[in-house]
Amino acid sequence: MLEISLYFKVKSSGMLFSIDDKLSSRFKYDKLALMTVTIIVGTQWGDEGKGKITDLLARDMDMVVRYQGGNNAGHTVVIGDKTFKLHLIPSGIFYSNVMCVIGNGVVVDPAVLLEEIETLRGQGHAAENLRISTQAHVIFPYHKDLDKAQEKKKESGRIGTTCRGIGPCYVDKYNRRGIRIGDLYDQGLLRQKLAWNLEEKGFYLEKFYGQKVHYNLDSILAEYTGYAHALRHFVAEDSTSLVYEAVKKRKNLLLEGAQGTMLDVDHGTYPYVTSSNPVASGACVGAGFSPKAVDEILGVVKAYVTRVGDGPFPTEIAGGMSDKLRQWGGEYGATTGRPRRCGWFDGVVMKYSSRINGLTSLAVTKLDVLDNVETIKICVAYEYKGRQLKDFPLNLACLEQCQPVYIEMPGWLKPLSKVRNYQELPPHAKNYLAKLAEIAEARVSLISVGAERGQIIKLPS
Ligand code: GDP
Ligand code: IMO
Ligand code: MG
Repeated sequence: MLEISLYFKVKSSGMLFSIDDKLSSRFKYDKLALMTVTIIVGTQWGDEGKGKITDLLARDMDMVVRYQGGNNAGHTVVIGDKTFKLHLIPSGIFYSNVMCVIGNGVVVDPAVLLEEIETLRGQGHAAENLRISTQAHVIFPYHKDLDKAQEKKKESGRIGTTCRGIGPCYVDKYNRRGIRIGDLYDQGLLRQKLAWNLEEKGFYLEKFYGQKVHYNLDSILAEYTGYAHALRHFVAEDSTSLVYEAVKKRKNLLLEGAQGTMLDVDHGTYPYVTSSNPVASGACVGAGFSPKAVDEILGVVKAYVTRVGDGPFPTEIAGGMSDKLRQWGGEYGATTGRPRRCGWFDGVVMKYSSRINGLTSLAVTKLDVLDNVETIKICVAYEYKGRQLKDFPLNLACLEQCQPVYIEMPGWLKPLSKVRNYQELPPHAKNYLAKLAEIAEARVSLISVGAERGQIIKLPS
């Protein structure tokens, strides 16, 4: 154990690579050669398999932090024959010695969080290692009502949100009307903030959206005070100082992104995005630490692409193959159960995502889903008004008219789910991975070939 940690300390300081050779190959490949502060980021439109990868890496971590989003996220972890779907709790929770933090950048629906804690307890996981930031914003019933009302009212340009109140809660945060976890413990302040919000939101819902609402200040106050009481045990006085201590002591820290780069409110396909910053740089803001501390940015890349909700999706497949991918990949939303739209791997998105995030390596997931595809397509450019675009267009009107330019690669037509060693992969699978890495200009460090925790191929650095 000492030898392994020495390896990582030495490697992270970039001094002496020869210690690598002294390690047995079992350790060398068993422990992932990641450095101390690693950000896990979705590189596409979400659901890339971030939950699986976070759980996998969490074994060697001291702390896992969720840095943005809320219960719009659905992160699946499969351990043996048990499937866990996490919406707010970091996916490192299955290791009781790993501190799991819901960071300041997350928006929290306390009822959902309590239910998630209860479910985990029922499955034998006490969640005693969970901490919640006092600065995280709280989702109230009016956020969910506004989310639904907005989606309903839009005749065109519907976003297809998860209707969990995420957008309206972030609006209040940035409009400085939000109520934070810490506020739940100050009855006077909570009453005052809540009264203001109920009046404002009630007005909008009734007058603008034509919805009848009957918010009762006292009952919402009592309800949320109850949640606060039940969560008290998990609330950290200052979660940023927990993260700071971990960084200062060079502990292994994992930042778990939700959603994906193309859903980022600044860098995604706006307005068809979520209301936070899933990109890697969002991790520093959403967990409260310095960008100087970041060592690795691991991009989670699905071997094809999916999207839930509305918005442009250049490589979306119509009909047959889309249905097959959905069926083989079980492509139904982990939060809403909606069928996911399916498409071929989009190299233009990948290149953009790699640049925006500064990816240092890739975790390619769901490679096994392509096992039976004879010819696999990869989009390498977009055609727009007779021109070929290699860079992702930021203009939505342009993007909506882009047609994918594909190259074709032969499929491997062999089952991968039992492969655990890179050398054993069929040559066509290796070629496909090499192409993905070439486009992303980042090395592949992990290849996932099934949903279960152990279905992984680790590549030495
Ligand atoms: P996340 O939101 O990025 O954590 O991803 P989701 O959990 O929403 O969706 C990923 C889905 O694919 C889940 O059902 C996972 O259990 C599953 N999954 C993850 N990795 C693999 C893989 O390599 N192969 C297969 N077949 N399924 C996978
Ligand atoms: P994970 O973390 C996939 C999508 C919604 C919608 C848009 C805005 O599991 O990858 P919102 O409710 O956030 O205002 O909806 O974002 N969306 C996701 N799509 N995976 C997710 O999370 C998502 N979270 C939000 O479908 O298009
Ligand atoms: Mg998901």
